[in-house]
Amino acid sequence: MNLSEQSCPEAAAAGKTDIAMPLYPADAVIMAPLSGYTDVAYRRSMRRHGCRFAFTEMVDAASLTYARKRSEGMLRRDASEEFLGVQLVGGDPEQLRVALDVLNEYDFDVLDFNLGCPVPKVAKKGAGAALGRNVERALSLFSLFRERSRHVLSAKIRILSETDPAPTVALVRGLYALGARAVTIHGRVKEAFYSGPVHYEIIRAAAESVPVQIVGNGGIMNADSAGQMRRESGCGPIMVARGAMGNPWLFRELSDGTEFVPPTVAELLAEVEQHVREMTEEYGEAAAMRMARKMVHDYLRGRGFAGEFRSGASFLNTLADLHRFLAAAPAAHAESYWAQAENGLLRERLLRRG
Ligand SMILES: Cc1cc2nc3c(=O)[nH]c(=O)nc-3n(C[C@H](O)[C@H](O)[C@H](O)COP(=O)(O)O)c2cc1C
Repeated sequence: MNLSEQSCPEAAAAGKTDIAMPLYPADAVIMAPLSGYTDVAYRRSMRRHGCRFAFTEMVDAASLTYARKRSEGMLRRDASEEFLGVQLVGGDPEQLRVALDVLNEYDFDVLDFNLGCPVPKVAKKGAGAALGRNVERALSLFSLFRERSRHVLSAKIRILSETDPAPTVALVRGLYALGARAVTIHGRVKEAFYSGPVHYEIIRAAAESVPVQIVGNGGIMNADSAGQMRRESGCGPIMVARGAMGNPWLFRELSDGTEFVPPTVAELLAEVEQHVREMTEEYGEAAAMRMARKMVHDYLRGRGFAGEFRSGASFLNTLADLHRFLAAAPAAHAESYWAQAENGLLRERLLRRG
């Protein structure tokens, strides 16, 4: 009996001997799945700045069942992508079976089960965080993954209680026993959505009790909050989400361990242009520009641009509009930006971006 079997008898009973093998390096910084964001163009932007581990957007099992052609675009992978995970959400066993079969036709480095999404549209169908709350059912559906999928498996959950680690530990233990190679834990309960404190101590309790790799998630906006997550949860690998929205430079900040140097205005505008241009190549100009407006807002927020100028991002319809908009950006940029960056104010504002 090896070490992981001794500490987790369920694993031995399940005949799994290799599941404690870590999926990620201990210092990994992983780009979270973000619905409506983490497509190929978004991931290219992140990867230009040092992101190595990333996920597709969450893919709904129902859409792979009933609208396969339309949803398969979400599964696209660039040849240059070294590590890409796919994330599946669903609560219906029949739909999950179909979706798992479809995903078996694709190459991904990991298949992640979403047990943490709190949005009502998902929860109403008994999926995401609502399913995570129902540990028995969540595990029974995860066992389908194990039976049917040819992929390495993981899951992304939320903590189940802010005060008692036991329910979260039980879910993680069950996922591990069924073959999960990693479990990402967002340290907030379903009702907290995306705000309020991150309960590092609950993540730590899971990491200390179950010999599966735990990825810490929640509130990582810069090197300080990344350090706090690692210190207080005991996790090596961490997952960033809102901190990287409009801020691909976060990957350099977290990887280098060097003092954060904000991008120059020219670097920022060049990144926005390339990101949006690549979206137009993917979706066509009209559809891409509708999706890109929120990305442009994300890039500009908290970086010293006048509010009146930023609101113009909501009216971009063509690439030519974007080019005119970006050409006007330097004039709308506050002189005080660098002074703020130097005295730490900028860091404070970036921290509040989440
Ligand atoms: C716009 C948006 C989309 C998200 N989409 C997903 C998703 O598809 N799958 C998922 O597991 N979590 C999703 N999340 C949750 C994040 O992955 C992450 O768990 C959460 O934002 C907490 O991390 P943060 O505090 O660093 O943002 C989403 C969050 C946001 C804000």
